[in-house]
Amino acid sequence: MNHWPDTGVSAALRQKYATDLALDRDGEWLQAFADVPRHIFVPTFYTQSTDMSWQPVTWGDGGYLEAVYRDAALTTQLDERGVPTSSSSQPSLMLTMLEALDVRDGHRVFELGTGTGYNAALLSHRLGEGHVTSVDVDPGLVAAAISRLRQAGHRPTLAAGDGALGYARRAPYDRLIATAGLQAVPAALLEQAADDAVMVAPLGYGIIRAQVTGPGHATGRFLPTPAHFMALRTSPAPPDLDAVRHERPGSTSVAPQGVLERLKFPLSIALPGYTSCSWKDDRGEVTAVGLWTADGSVATVDSTGTVRQSGPRRLWDSVEKLAATFTEDIEIAHDDFRVAITPTRQTVTYREPGGPSWHLPSASR
Ligand SMILES: C[S@@+](CC[C@H](N)C(=O)[O-])C[C@H]1O[C@@H](n2cnc3c(N)ncnc32)[C@H](O)[C@@H]1O
Repeated sequence: MNHWPDTGVSAALRQKYATDLALDRDGEWLQAFADVPRHIFVPTFYTQSTDMSWQPVTWGDGGYLEAVYRDAALTTQLDERGVPTSSSSQPSLMLTMLEALDVRDGHRVFELGTGTGYNAALLSHRLGEGHVTSVDVDPGLVAAAISRLRQAGHRPTLAAGDGALGYARRAPYDRLIATAGLQAVPAALLEQAADDAVMVAPLGYGIIRAQVTGPGHATGRFLPTPAHFMALRTSPAPPDLDAVRHERPGSTSVAPQGVLERLKFPLSIALPGYTSCSWKDDRGEVTAVGLWTADGSVATVDSTGTVRQSGPRRLWDSVEKLAATFTEDIEIAHDDFRVAITPTRQTVTYREPGGPSWHLPSASR
């Protein structure tokens, strides 16, 4: 692999980047962002053109270093269909999550989703490499991350595998951080958490911060910051949009235009892992929307309010229910949502006590 030099230019860009990131913050992480060269971890990233094709940008290309030391997520790996499978997350979001993790000297940290290795390097810089364990499902990414981490002077424990299973050999962990989107907190991570451990993890379109309160138990709430991470890798079945066309039509008073965008955070809790799409006319106006979940449920709604639903769950009914709870005058604040985890159930509640609540899917993954 190439070893990109840390030139005066990259060091100067990085210093400004770290200072800008840490503005208005307590600065605990400033030194790590200033010292760890992000460009070592992102030797190439991909930008998408208007025709949707991806172009690589690498060391030596105009604007490469400026882009690496900008507060932006960078796509670092694509699958054969051009779908992003790994990225270096937006640095300000990484900082928000690291601050929420509230690490102290001596803490042992587990990271789900090594990706480029940049976050593992920041953690190693702050805590020492012996306190950091990171797992990615993609062995190729892990091999590259090990090599880049060494180049940056760190040798944390890295492993290839399903991060939802944790890494029992190095447990217990005082802090656990996930950088791939979860639908529920994996049971193994709770089992491998120390007493009073803190976990920070993307869940739906938000990030939870939960404190372990006993074996298999934790409570917490969502951070105010909206966020979306690439999901844990699985192979969701594609929707059968053709089959739903033959379903008996119903009607809805919830206009499809804009509603999925406005409700996307509570929808991501009520229908974990859902996907949506929209159809537009020549003027770019939305004429219909569709949504589906991995269990094969599908709903489509057109602009006249005609609904068709198929599969085990009536997805548009869930949208209607959420639209009735979160009426347009309500500003949906992520930190109004709390999480309660027990060994048998994980529940998100809005403005408890007594607020609407949703059970997350089985906590095994
Ligand atoms: C947003 S990237 C992680 C960014 C990373 N922390 C960094 O600093 O570059 C998400 C990563 O999660 C990984 N991932 C997806 N599913 C996973 C799983 N089940 N177990 C472990 N890693 C997984 C992906 O391969 C991808 O590299």
